[in-house]
Parts: sequence; structure tokens; C-alpha cells
Amino acid sequence: MLSKVHHVGIVVKSADEALNFYRDALGLPVTADRVIEDQGVRGVLLQIGESEIELLEPVREGTGVARFLETRGEGMHHVCFESDDVDKELDAARAKGIQLIDEKPRLGLAGMICFLHPKSNHGVLVEFATPLAEGHH
Ligand code: CO
Repeated sequence: MLSKVHHVGIVVKSADEALNFYRDALGLPVTADRVIEDQGVRGVLLQIGESEIELLEPVREGTGVARFLETRGEGMHHVCFESDDVDKELDAARAKGIQLIDEKPRLGLAGMICFLHPKSNHGVLVEFATPLAEGHH
């Protein structure tokens, strides 16, 4: 079951510069900050209430996030809904004919994640995530 907005993903040129706003000006605490090699991004999560902001900075060319930054500039990239069972959400979306990006959930910054294609979601890239147990952030 989908339970809440887990995070909003925002593509930035520089996570360090973006932290001047999200961490320093808004006062949001950073809960994770690491490079996800297979996606070619540095991801930074900041807590806001029960949800998070996910900053995505491309660290190499040729990735989806790098192309997004080149063509559309900085800005909102995706919204992520939390589920207790990401496999089940993905199967249900597939059964309803929703166009998928990921055929199987994979490990991401927010836990086990998958993406649905924006063409099926009224122009919004949608992510499902099931966070890992505490301590594996
Ligand atoms: Co995300």
C-alpha cells in the first residue's frame, strides 16, 4: 500500500551549492549523502517532517539525470511514493498497463525503488520506494 510522499527529487548542478539553500537557509538536516555509481549521481537526502527532499547531482555524462539537467536545467525531477511492498506496487502497475522504466525494483538511495514512465503519469516521473530497515540508510 502507498502510504505517503517519501521524497521529492530535484536535479541540481551542484549539491554543495543546493545545500546552501536546503540545509543552511531552510535548516533541513541531511540524512544521507552518497554517490550512486550505476546511476551516475550524487544523491543527498534532507528530512522535512515525515518526507524528504532528494537532491540529484550528475557526476558523469550520459545518464538520465545528466540529460535532464542539459535539456531542462535545474528543477523538479520526480515524486516518490512510499510503499511497504515495492514488488507488489510494480506488479500492480504493470497489470494496469502503466508504462514502466524499471522492470524490477533495484537498490537506490531511498531503499528498494523503481520508476514508472512519465508518459503514463500525466507528465510526472513517479518512483515507488520501500525503505530498508533502519541503519541501512
Ligand atoms: Co528518488
